[in-house]
Amino acid sequence: MPTIDRLSALEILDSRGRPTVKATCRLASGAVAAASVPSGASTGRAEALELRDSDASRYGGLGCRKAVSHVNEQIHTALSGRSFDTQPELDRALLDLDGTADKSRLGANALLAVSIAFARACATERNIPLYRHFADMLGEPLRTLPRLTINLFSGGKHAGQQVAIQDVLVVPASARTIDEGLAVTYAVYQTAARLIRDRYGMRALTADEGGLAPDFASDEAMLDDAVTAIREAGFEPGRDVALAVDVASSHFYQAARYRLGGMALDSAGMIDHLAGWVQRYPIVSVEDGLAEEDWPHWPALKRRIGSRVLVLGDDFLCTNPARIRRAVETDSANALLLKVNQIGTLTEAAEACRLARSAGWRVTISARSGETEDNWLADLAVGWAGDQIKIGSITQSERLAKYNRLLEIEAETGLPVVQWP
Ligand code: PGA
Ligand code: ZN
Repeated sequence: MPTIDRLSALEILDSRGRPTVKATCRLASGAVAAASVPSGASTGRAEALELRDSDASRYGGLGCRKAVSHVNEQIHTALSGRSFDTQPELDRALLDLDGTADKSRLGANALLAVSIAFARACATERNIPLYRHFADMLGEPLRTLPRLTINLFSGGKHAGQQVAIQDVLVVPASARTIDEGLAVTYAVYQTAARLIRDRYGMRALTADEGGLAPDFASDEAMLDDAVTAIREAGFEPGRDVALAVDVASSHFYQAARYRLGGMALDSAGMIDHLAGWVQRYPIVSVEDGLAEEDWPHWPALKRRIGSRVLVLGDDFLCTNPARIRRAVETDSANALLLKVNQIGTLTEAAEACRLARSAGWRVTISARSGETEDNWLADLAVGWAGDQIKIGSITQSERLAKYNRLLEIEAETGLPVVQWP
């Protein structure tokens, strides 16, 4: 049984240069492992609390020294010398120690870093790859590799809000392997970068997750340019390469109106607008098409477009089992975007994953806009048999650490990519 010898943490910087938490877990057997946690910018209101120092003189208040000291002191003191047979036992001890509903006492960043470092140390102790350990945690065999969904264009909060919608992603739909999917995406991305230079007279300036972010005239121009890039790269839109959109609509929803493209749409109008996009463009997935608090209208969105595309909840669900349960009961979505740090422990995220699966939903395992060079997300997406993985673009090392890990896992396991869409 894994026994914790020592827990420690360090404040490190994420891909935006903001502090985050890296925890190290040493087991009595001598197995040691570390894990770093990511951080969002386009966050949902129901997310677990990421503890920041609020000392304005340092990193604008974003320092993580408090969270780090909680790992080094309280969490280490409470857990060292104790044995935990399973991940749920460890996570339960963390939750009890924190004692709040939103993890605000010790910080979800502190708890999650420990939760993942412990999982990785256990995999090391068992001498198995992390993805296999994650699969065991869910009690499922390894089945498939996730289908890639890769940021091409960005707007919204990740790109200075030149257009309302946050991301247009490419889905290499006909690729049979991760390797092939990445090569297809590279061709589309490079074609898009050229197109942007010609059309907007700018070099490839990118948003937080590496998406190209020129001054699109409208959301539709962004979607049109994506289709053009797919075609000019030599692929058939919708057949070889499809599109996914992260509308992230909570961030332009004010006073019961969706404010995009100079319009102020009510919820029914927004649903019509999205249905129009699904009609006109080769879209296979619509993330946060409605706002996180617009519960009354999500069922109508699901009814309207859910037979053709994924109705995917990010801020809407916040990887929160209670919210997912409510969404299943009200038939409000058919896919979960799973971000472990929205909820704060692996065990709760696993429950979210199980709930979504048992409702027949698809699951997209997602990174955050602020990432680190850690690659556990790739192992998680394989171990938990994610239908999709969403990491960002293919241009920045904090993203490529995960893509490269997927390539390693593919070479090691030979698992097939999930058949979707
Ligand atoms: P994040 O958002 O900035 O909160 O990570 C990414 C997303 O909306 O999918
Ligand atoms: Zn999102």
